[in-house]
Amino acid sequence: MAETTEVKKGLAGVIADESAISNVIPEKRALYYRGYPVHELAEKCRFEEVAYLLLYGELPTRAQLEAFEQEERSQRALDETVHRLLELIRTDAAPMDVLRTAVSLLGANDPEATGADIDTIRRKAIGLMARLPTIVAADRRRRHGLDFIPPREDLTFAENFFHMYFGEVPDAEVVKAFDVSLILYAEHSFNASTFTARVITSTLSDYYSAITGAIGALKGPLHGGANEEVMRMLKPFRSPEEARRWVEEALARKQKIMGFGHRVYRYGDSRVPIMERYTRRLAERLGFQNLMAIYDAIQEVVVQQKGIYPNLDYPTGPAYYMMGFDIETYTPIFVMSRITGWSAHVMEQLADNRIIRPLSRYVGPPERPVPPLEARG
Ligand code: COA
Repeated sequence: MAETTEVKKGLAGVIADESAISNVIPEKRALYYRGYPVHELAEKCRFEEVAYLLLYGELPTRAQLEAFEQEERSQRALDETVHRLLELIRTDAAPMDVLRTAVSLLGANDPEATGADIDTIRRKAIGLMARLPTIVAADRRRRHGLDFIPPREDLTFAENFFHMYFGEVPDAEVVKAFDVSLILYAEHSFNASTFTARVITSTLSDYYSAITGAIGALKGPLHGGANEEVMRMLKPFRSPEEARRWVEEALARKQKIMGFGHRVYRYGDSRVPIMERYTRRLAERLGFQNLMAIYDAIQEVVVQQKGIYPNLDYPTGPAYYMMGFDIETYTPIFVMSRITGWSAHVMEQLADNRIIRPLSRYVGPPERPVPPLEARG
């Protein structure tokens, strides 16, 4: 049977299940979270409201938002085991590896780790959402030899992250740009890391295993790791002309340009115009016009020569750079946001579970007898 079935390499075009969490409509360059256009959510909501929407299915009322924020803010502190773990890991370890290991530790130490009812999963999701930024900031500070800055409960999710990372909160416009990036990164249907989380969940493994696996998948440069690679690409250029020359040569050698292309969007990523507006505003205010000229030059060449458009990582990489974040923490920031989407998918998978187990077409040697050891040359 498998021999006559078409192989869908990379599962491209395969509809693996139904989902009520987000809807990507590539022809309209549109993305909806539970029916709400993402550009409206970015304009009108804070990240916490969007997190609630993904985890509960509806936008919160004021009272629900307050209770949700109280639950999240009260769990931001790390227990001693995570601080001890951070002391054990090399200071030059990849921050995504640190985050993955810390989540694994939290799971191993959670006596309720295997609980699979929806309320338990949601509670764990809010707990992880609260702690991930603290882990990312604590890790960044220790690698610079700086003291840990404890979280504050009187700050929003975005403000508190700046506080723990830098020791200060920037002005409202910078915080809003960061918050918008979190909203845009929160969810995107059956992407590779979300699908990883669903595959692990489908075996009835535990929540933390699903999230640990998802972090591993997101790390790769073809997925979340691209926001870091974008900035590593843009940073060395001194002028747009230099960038243009480089990208023309790179395309001629068939090199992939990070931050461009998408499995689902062929005519452009719906999230790019929203993020790009904030990135440009930051550049004007903070004096990064040359960086944006380099950004535009590369984009122009890739679009003109290949007809391939930027994805969300392209404007987000430089935005995070202008905000002052270390390049190696861009993908961990993506995790701080995507934890909401992953958790919504874990709950959705569990609500109507069937183990995810595709087929493969065998192309190895035909049946043959096993020769005795002495006859194998
Ligand atoms: N730069 C240059 N060429 C690209 C490209 C890029 N970023 N992305 C795709 N292409 C080209 C491929 O080389 C291929 O050309 P070919 O048919 O001549 O071989 C064609 O476009 C199709 O690409 P493919 O890799 O098969 O598409 P995919 O759907 O399997 O992969 C991505 C999608 C996102 C993995 C891919 O576009 C990519 O690697 N992008 C760079 C990494 C990135 O930004 N990832 C973040 C995704 S949100």
